[in-house]
Amino acid sequence: MQNNSIQMVDLKSQYQRIKGEVDVAIQGVIENAQFIKGPSVKEFETNLSKFLNVKHVISCANGTDALQIAMMALGLKPGDEVIVPVFTYIATAEVIGLLGLIPVMVDVDANTFCIDEKQIDAVITKRTRAIVPVHLFGQCANMHAIMAIAHKYNLFVIEDTAQAIGAVYAFQDGSTKSAGCIGDIGTTSFFPSKNLGCYGDGGALFTNNDELAEKLRMICNHGQKVQYIHDVIGVNSRLDTIQAAILNVKLKYLRQYEENRRQAADWYDEALENVEWLQRPKRVVNSTHVFHQYTLKIKGGKHYRDRVRSTLAEVGIPSMIYYPIPLHMQKAFSSDNYNLGSFCVSENLCDSVLSLPIHSELNKANIRYITDTILSIEN
Ligand SMILES: Cc1ncc(COP(=O)(O)O)c(C=O)c1O
Repeated sequence: MQNNSIQMVDLKSQYQRIKGEVDVAIQGVIENAQFIKGPSVKEFETNLSKFLNVKHVISCANGTDALQIAMMALGLKPGDEVIVPVFTYIATAEVIGLLGLIPVMVDVDANTFCIDEKQIDAVITKRTRAIVPVHLFGQCANMHAIMAIAHKYNLFVIEDTAQAIGAVYAFQDGSTKSAGCIGDIGTTSFFPSKNLGCYGDGGALFTNNDELAEKLRMICNHGQKVQYIHDVIGVNSRLDTIQAAILNVKLKYLRQYEENRRQAADWYDEALENVEWLQRPKRVVNSTHVFHQYTLKIKGGKHYRDRVRSTLAEVGIPSMIYYPIPLHMQKAFSSDNYNLGSFCVSENLCDSVLSLPIHSELNKANIRYITDTILSIEN
């Protein structure tokens, strides 16, 4: 079956299914005209904190700001070292550089794509202040081990949850917590293509710590608690009311969207089980996987991966390479101030990963078309 309408993310079809509710929500904000800090913002923060079972949700303008605001609230100072995985989106490390902090990069696990916790100990110095695990592609990093390291060395943990909102982490004692609600602060993004995406930019921070929550809220709003009284240097980073109203509608469907993504991943997994030249995404036992991405590893090197990608493209199937260059090889991090080293797992991943379409609107026929195409590729 030829299917030319498959997209990496299908926001148009998703909108059509909730159009009535979304249109009413947007119209309501326009008529009410409280575009900044309108009632939907508080309502969304409350709804999301209930959903995540976390004490405080503080909304802001995007996921990059959320990371920056988290580091500001924790009082990180220029020269402080912050540990980050080398295989992630630039935003995670960009804000570290922006604040004059030193990004200390660590390789990732070849199977989970998340920071390799076994390599963290070795890079800790007197100047290390924080670890930023990224729950990449929708599954949590090894938070049990990361929290143990953080306690041992008295480090802050900021969880970058931009790709994993809704994932649930299970500890060894059987207790569970939502991704982003385990460390000191969690951050997320509501970029349109995210699992919970708005219709523009948006982001949020999560914490169970009252004092930190107050600081975060102040920093998001020019360092003020009371209007025109500025206690600290802050930023202007707010989720606008229209986006909050949209998110209030979409949050109700997040579990369903997550289920649809997992179903698509199951269909992929089933069909690709015996293809020797690729590795399907590994699912860890301690975390649910919300499949922000369904990322294969293609054996045989970059040339072969790129050929698979072109074959898919020839029959109208999009795919993406998240990410083509690891952070330590980005020009932006070429400064002499950073002692970066080499990271062979991440370098190999950049040459072998291929993310297939995954979103809430895919049906079995779509997946079948994609997997039949993959199965027809000669080794
Ligand atoms: C892992 C990760 N961190 C941070 C961000 C930044 O979020 P935003 O685009 O909302 O600034 C993203 C978004 O793409 C991301 O994927």
